[in-house]
Amino acid sequence: MIGAPRILMQLVVLITNFNGVMPMDLHLCEFFAGCMAVTGVWTRAGYRAAPFEILLDSSWMDILTPQGFCLAICMALRMRREAFAMLATVCSSWVFVSRSSSHGTRVMFQVSASNQKSRSSFKEMVAKMTLILYILESRRCYWCYEQPSSSMLWSHPRMQAFFKKVTCFKAFTYMGAYGASTPKPTHLVASRASVWKFCRTLPEKEWGELVTKKTMPDGRVSVTGSSAMKGSQAYTEAFGLATLATWLDESDDPEPDLTGIKIPSVWAPLTKDERWEDAKVHECMQYLSGL
Ligand SMILES: C[S@@+](CC[C@H](N)C(=O)[O-])C[C@H]1O[C@@H](n2cnc3c(N)ncnc32)[C@H](O)[C@@H]1O
Repeated sequence: MIGAPRILMQLVVLITNFNGVMPMDLHLCEFFAGCMAVTGVWTRAGYRAAPFEILLDSSWMDILTPQGFCLAICMALRMRREAFAMLATVCSSWVFVSRSSSHGTRVMFQVSASNQKSRSSFKEMVAKMTLILYILESRRCYWCYEQPSSSMLWSHPRMQAFFKKVTCFKAFTYMGAYGASTPKPTHLVASRASVWKFCRTLPEKEWGELVTKKTMPDGRVSVTGSSAMKGSQAYTEAFGLATLATWLDESDDPEPDLTGIKIPSVWAPLTKDERWEDAKVHECMQYLSGL
């Protein structure tokens, strides 16, 4: 109904062929879970919660590997209808790399070979997460995508195309208001209007610096994230509790009317654009066909 890409439908058919019908048992998925504060809160409250995080398994939980992406899809497919998903892709490099390339600011970025590589990894990551969002939408999940307010992630073409198809809501808050060590102005983009409940004002106190600025010999300014900023990437218990409270407060979403919906011809040939080469879906197909 939301016009999910046919390549995603193909991938889901192949994955479910291998795995059989999966239980839809998860109340929460935390993608890019880091310290897993949200998962911890939900688990302690008795809900079935699962984190996806490279630090837990550098192969199976790396979204950039075919097996990692297939596992992420399986997790999304295992979500209950109207379950909650928290998403927080790596942000700092995305923020800085994007700004240097598309806005021509005077801020200098150390663009090295590895940064070129990470730039394409970020694009792949965002394209893959957009595909996951299509699955979450089909489950009518309450998904909530967190990024620092300076992030350019929302302008990624795949995200833009997704936003044109679905109704989303954006809220602004401070992670400092949830007990983080820096203010960390944050945007939350979500599938439900109640995301406004996350908006909080910043308590008045002395805050650590978010970035360290250094003037280079040629007068340009180099900006790097401070250690306080890196520390404040981790969600707090208070933020985890806010996700649970907001979700519990949510009323049921009415069933969509599917009469007259045309089911697309999933296996008809795909155009180049439909192949989602930026998300490296072909690698997942090859991986699955080799199992
Ligand atoms: C912005 S941080 C999110 C931190 C998290 N919100 C927390 O509360 O700790 C991004 C997280 O993504 C993880 N990550 C980075 N690359 C990844 C990948 N390729 N696949 C899966 N997780 C990855 C990092 O280890 C990091 O924990």
